[in-house]
Amino acid sequence: MEGKKIIFSGIQPSGELTIGNYLGALKNWVKLQDEYDCYFCVVDLHAITVKQEPKDLRRRTLELLAIYIAAGIDPRKNTMFIQSHVPQHAEAAWLLNCIAYMGELQRMTQFKDKSSKQGSGASVNAGLLNYPVLMAADIILYQTDLVPVGKDQKQHLELTRNLAERFNGLYSDTLKVPDPYIPKAGAKIMDLQEPTKKMSKSSDNPNAYILMMDPPEVIKKKISRAVTDTLGVIKYSDEQPGIKNLINILSAIKGLNPEEIELEYQGKGYAELKNDVAEAIIGELKPIQDKVKELVNDKEYLKNIYKEGAEKARYIANKTLRKMKKKIGFIPQE
Ligand code: AMP
Ligand code: TRP
Repeated sequence: MEGKKIIFSGIQPSGELTIGNYLGALKNWVKLQDEYDCYFCVVDLHAITVKQEPKDLRRRTLELLAIYIAAGIDPRKNTMFIQSHVPQHAEAAWLLNCIAYMGELQRMTQFKDKSSKQGSGASVNAGLLNYPVLMAADIILYQTDLVPVGKDQKQHLELTRNLAERFNGLYSDTLKVPDPYIPKAGAKIMDLQEPTKKMSKSSDNPNAYILMMDPPEVIKKKISRAVTDTLGVIKYSDEQPGIKNLINILSAIKGLNPEEIELEYQGKGYAELKNDVAEAIIGELKPIQDKVKELVNDKEYLKNIYKEGAEKARYIANKTLRKMKKKIGFIPQE
């Protein structure tokens, strides 16, 4: 482990995962695990910024850990844990909250989107505003070099960098300033019904997204219903957002660049492209789905992984937290 650069990333157990989460985040984590010292976290503290049913939250938290493993993240090589098992995250978030500005938090696109769904200002929970500060705490506690995320998280990463720099400026060099790592192909998988919008698990229309656990026939149906256009040519262009999205999905799964795919489908029809996209998704997800089903029944195995992960994470996180507290002027306990 010594000498390797550090990666931290996480996904919220707040709903079923889509292929957007998979292609934008998870699939890349798998590729990075040999080269980096990685921390992969199930960020349950983040999930409660929107209302969660306790029993669903419990189920999804374990399922998400199972998905990490089934997707190919090796628990022997990486530190995998559940955020609420490492109290240092909430504590560091408080310290950073005291140097974060209301204005910069109110400007975050995700805050604006999500708060508008919670109604008028009076009923928007404060956690939603402070969400990116908690994310910054997650990252800086491990002296993280790189954060592999989808494009939608870029703004939060910029805030994280600003907070780390601000802390260092106020109290001298303490925190590593992390860089985002955003994949080319899967960075933004779009909604299948409105391909100018990001694919999201919170969409009201199930035809808009493909879930990682969707069975093959559902995947086929959803892809065949994906919105395209009437141009009838397969081109990778912003004028054809539906086709562009299908090419992006194929490109992220096959590891080919979009231009190669465009060439391959010259003169072919939309039905053929859709069929191939559906087959590619099914081929990619089926083995993962089978493994997830097996793993979620093995609670002891999952427990061993998250217990061991949290122990290691607490040890590392505490080192950074202790430094932060000392610099701030808190009296050390010993
Ligand atoms: P979340 O579901 O918000 O916890 O997101 C988990 C990870 O998936 C983050 O790295 C996101 O950037 C990524 N992600 C979510 N939706 C998409 C999408 N439609 N396309 C690409 N990446 C995504
Ligand atoms: N905010 C991220 C999302 O919605 C999830 C997240 C929380 C995260 N903490 C993180 C991602 C730390 C990377 C690093 O997708």
